[in-house]
Amino acid sequence: MRNPKIPAKVLSELTRQLNHELTAAHAYHAMAIWCADRNFSGFASYFTRQSKEEQEHAERIINHLIDRGVQPELAAIPAPKQDFKALLDVAKHAQAMERANTEGIHTAYEAALAAKDYPAQVLLHWFINEQVEEEAWCQEMVERVQEATCAGALTDLDRHIERYLDGEGEDEG
Ligand SMILES: [Fe+2]
Ligand SMILES: [Fe+2]
Repeated sequence: MRNPKIPAKVLSELTRQLNHELTAAHAYHAMAIWCADRNFSGFASYFTRQSKEEQEHAERIINHLIDRGVQPELAAIPAPKQDFKALLDVAKHAQAMERANTEGIHTAYEAALAAKDYPAQVLLHWFINEQVEEEAWCQEMVERVQEATCAGALTDLDRHIERYLDGEGEDEG
C-alpha cells in the first residue's frame, strides 16, 4: 500500500465487493460446467460469458483501488455450489446470487455516501445499473425454464436461451 486516498470503510466495502464478484465468477463457471455436462450447451455458453463478466466487474474495482493508491487484497474463494438437481435449480441459484450481489453493491454505495466518497459513488453507479440488468435476465431465465415443462421444451429453450437473454428474443422465433 502506497499512499491510500480512500476512506477505510469504503476500502473495506470495495474489497469485500471485488471478492464477491470473483466468487460469482467461480459460481457461474460451476453452473456452466453443470450445464455442459447435461448437454445444455446454450446455457453453458451463457454462464461462461457471465463468469467472464464477473471477472471484469472485479477488475473494475481492482483498477479503481490501484488508481487510489491501494493494493487490492484477494480473499480465498470457497468451492461453489455444483450439485444441482435440475436446470431450474441452476436458474434459481443464479437469481439468488444476483439478488445477494445487488445487496452487496447497495451496502458499498451506502458506505461511499456516508463517507462523501464521490469517486467510489460514481464507480458504484455503474454497478447499480448493471444489477438492474442482471436481475432482469435472471427473472426471465427462471420464468422460461419454469415454462419448459418437458425434456423437449428444455432442449428447445437451450437452443435459444442466449438470444433471449441478450434481449433479442421478443419475436419468440
Ligand atoms: Fe457482477
Ligand atoms: Fe452478475
